[in-house]
Amino acid sequence: MIDDREKPTRVMIAGTGSYVPERVLTNAELEQMVDTSDDWIRARTGMRERRIARPDEASSDMGAAAGRAALAAAGLAVDEVDLIIVATSTPDMLFPSTACLVQSALGATNALCYDLSAACSGFLYALETARAMLQSGLYQNALVIGSDKMSAVTDWSDRGTCILFGDGAGAVVLKPTVTHRGIMSTVSGADGSLGDLLMIPAGGSRMPATAETVADHQHTVKMAGNNVFKHAVRCMTEAGRAALRKAGLTAADVKWVIPHQANMRIIQAISERVDIPMDRIVVNLDRYGNTTAATVPVALDEAVRDGRIQRGDVLLFVVFGGGFTWGAMVLEY
Ligand code: UT7
Repeated sequence: MIDDREKPTRVMIAGTGSYVPERVLTNAELEQMVDTSDDWIRARTGMRERRIARPDEASSDMGAAAGRAALAAAGLAVDEVDLIIVATSTPDMLFPSTACLVQSALGATNALCYDLSAACSGFLYALETARAMLQSGLYQNALVIGSDKMSAVTDWSDRGTCILFGDGAGAVVLKPTVTHRGIMSTVSGADGSLGDLLMIPAGGSRMPATAETVADHQHTVKMAGNNVFKHAVRCMTEAGRAALRKAGLTAADVKWVIPHQANMRIIQAISERVDIPMDRIVVNLDRYGNTTAATVPVALDEAVRDGRIQRGDVLLFVVFGGGFTWGAMVLEY
């Protein structure tokens, strides 16, 4: 029987992990591939280099590596994992899900597994979904992974997009807690009417693969960059402010902001608008570019491991991506 005097369970991040491929692709190399320059890329995006997965390395391989590290950090045995959610726009294949492939790679035989599709917002959507599953009491823990191999869906002849993306994966283990504030608030949204501005047109049921769709580069990312930029700044700012209000906190309470890593100018605009200086914002897009669902968990894991983020710190995640989708989350690490 449910005792309604019980406080709803809080959910915290018990451990983090990440993985990026070894191969570095520099701006200088991109200069040899398309009509661009290191100066333009650095000035317009802040990016210097990004990682590219091996041909035989897929999203599930990177996700499993990040997941393994997060389980070790959380001290959770693989056979105890209840739930695996993988946020990805670049699944290994249409099915089985990437989460099932991660489960197999890890040997997490007792876990329920599924993928979640919300492009660059996928990790935050997956965190919120896992939080609800844990708060229901039906699941005791969750391994939440963001993994994307964007190099597999990049048009390497389109200078407007090919300079932006990189490959990688990040993961967290979520557990219930009674001693810790954990996730304090989430605000998220979507606007499907603007989906055309950032998409991969072919490869699904609308436009199945044909020789023509391949020749026509329809299986790669199409983006109206400038338009996406404006929506990203507005939605992430509004979501960030709303999540802070909902948590009963102000910008001054936030120790670290971890934003989606799409463009340094977007991050700077958010910094000004939410009134949190750049020295409290975790940035790694100079080294990794935009790794889609992996940006936030990779940045989180790096900042935890190098000691910038400590237990008790209040964090603000803000994300935006194709769909359109967006969101913000306030939590105590
Ligand atoms: O992860 C999901 C969310 N994604 C984002 O938030 C991405 C948001 N968008 C952006 O980050 C930026 O819009 C870009 C970095 C993609 C582009 O920067 P921009 O300042 O918006 O440039 P633009 O698209 O307005 O293009 C300005 C000029 C154009 O030339 P003209 O038409 O003015 O002659 C482009 O053709 O820059 C040109 N251009 C380039 N030049 C050199 C576009 N890409 C390049 C390039 N190298 N790689």
